[in-house]
Amino acid sequence: MNKEMIVVLDFGGQYNQLIARRVRECNVYAEVHPYTLPIEELKAMNPKGIIFTGGPNSVYLDTSPAYTREVFDLGIPILGICYGSQLMAHLLGGKVKTAEVSEYGKTEVELDCDFENKPVTDKAYSSMLYAGTARNMTVWMSHTDYIAEVPEGFTVTAHTANCPVASMEYSKDDKKLYAVQYHPEVLHTEYGKQILENFVLKICGCSGDWRMDSFVESAIRDLREKIGNGRVLCALSGGVDSSVAAVLLSKAVGKQLTCVFVDHGLLRKDEGDEVEAIFGPKGNYELNFIRVNAQDRFYLKLAGETDPERKRHIIGEEFIRVFEEEAKKIGAVDFLAQGTIYPDVIESGLGESAVIKSHHNVGGLPDHVDFKEIVEPLRMLFKDEVRRCGLELGIPEYLVFRQPFPGPGLGVRIIDDITKEKVRIVQEADAIFREEVDKAVQQWKCDELDKICEEAEEEGIHVGGIVDPDKAVGLPDWYPNQYFAALTNMRSVGVMGDFRTYDYAVVLRAVSTSDFMTADCCNIPFEVLQKCMNRIINEVKGVNRVMFDLTSKPPGTIELL
Ligand code: XMP
Repeated sequence: MNKEMIVVLDFGGQYNQLIARRVRECNVYAEVHPYTLPIEELKAMNPKGIIFTGGPNSVYLDTSPAYTREVFDLGIPILGICYGSQLMAHLLGGKVKTAEVSEYGKTEVELDCDFENKPVTDKAYSSMLYAGTARNMTVWMSHTDYIAEVPEGFTVTAHTANCPVASMEYSKDDKKLYAVQYHPEVLHTEYGKQILENFVLKICGCSGDWRMDSFVESAIRDLREKIGNGRVLCALSGGVDSSVAAVLLSKAVGKQLTCVFVDHGLLRKDEGDEVEAIFGPKGNYELNFIRVNAQDRFYLKLAGETDPERKRHIIGEEFIRVFEEEAKKIGAVDFLAQGTIYPDVIESGLGESAVIKSHHNVGGLPDHVDFKEIVEPLRMLFKDEVRRCGLELGIPEYLVFRQPFPGPGLGVRIIDDITKEKVRIVQEADAIFREEVDKAVQQWKCDELDKICEEAEEEGIHVGGIVDPDKAVGLPDWYPNQYFAALTNMRSVGVMGDFRTYDYAVVLRAVSTSDFMTADCCNIPFEVLQKCMNRIINEVKGVNRVMFDLTSKPPGTIELL
């Protein structure tokens, strides 16, 4: 499958996943590996190109991450980004210095080379990296150090007002070395996609034929090869990732698969029954579905625990224990399957970037697991790729486009200790919020559709037949990609009827995001929020205050814990 691969060498920057995503958007497979990857292993991967990422360090410190100079002699094209560009300069004999003022944010660059895919015009040098871009562009900068002197043989291809080498390159002999001080992977960089596409397609010569149907085909083949006649136990949560993993496994090894669904008592309202209806014996799939009602067991383990990371680990560990027990009941099991996806792997600190949170399905894995091996068929996919994979497998759209729900469930939406009563409160408030947002989205679609029809009628066009609003009008600009209620541990005084209350405050969170790495608060219409507030206070016992969380990510995270 991975005949053509770009290796992204991770030097600790925060945008490293994004680089791999952008490369994959060019239909070229990319993997992130730490800078500690031995060069022999790098060579064995036979990449068509290598990208050095950014990172927070200064290249001239002995302790800073580096790579062997030999990498430049492999004849494999290399693109250095930010720290990666400075490292290239430093290792090849250029000079990197610290500027007095950092350059941060949107910055204008001017090219010092020809930028069109045609013979040299007014400039002495034509750069393939800039084909199809413009002389002046806005780019995203984030650096204090800068390349003061390029290594011998390199040409400066762009500069900014404060940065003499915004990009440089050496493309002679069989060497193709490119370096950009700015971040082409960030959407704020105009032509960033074009620049990365130029690198992977034009400079590395990738054909761009990595597609989801080929992934599904080869994943099924690989799973069959790995699992053989073994039995697989799959952790099915009903979320997008584990559902796609389960269906993929079911296609690969059929009856050898058993799916266990653990109701840990931290699911959304009625979710346990809904999951059972879809994947259980009465549903459409053959998954050997077993439901384990382990609610009380989890509440007991979690009792009194207030620390977010401890809660995640308790939930993760208990989860695995339940599986071990189920595995024993059904006889020998060789593999444990999980729906871990690429951002989980990287955000859990397995790459070079700082650990933000340990996602329970990776970071919290206990030491004693009674299985031969773990299989994670989606480990290398980003969320949107998992969705495409789900559609490819014929999973219905409503399941594939469900909003994400974290493995530790409401455990990361209840601040401080977890009790059955708090779970009830958050479940009920959340159900109301989701229902009202969904209703408002549907209403918006109907209103938009009416407008379109009215305008068409005014122009004398008759809109006949039944029009599907989903296809005709799109989504409102306040549409949230993730929206839920959470429980603060705050209680405050209120008045209901003639009585004083001293009850909990529920917080509503609604964010728009394309990659869940950064997110903005959504501008949910005020009347929708007011309706939710009214309903939650009237219908959910134990709540007397409703708040709306305005925080973006960063500095907040999407979940509260
Ligand atoms: P944060 O809170 O880190 O969330 O901004 C980013 C996305 O990841 C989901 N999330 C999790 N998913 N296990 C999961 O499977 C977890 O422990 C976990 N924590 C957060 C979150 O819902 C959001 O979509």
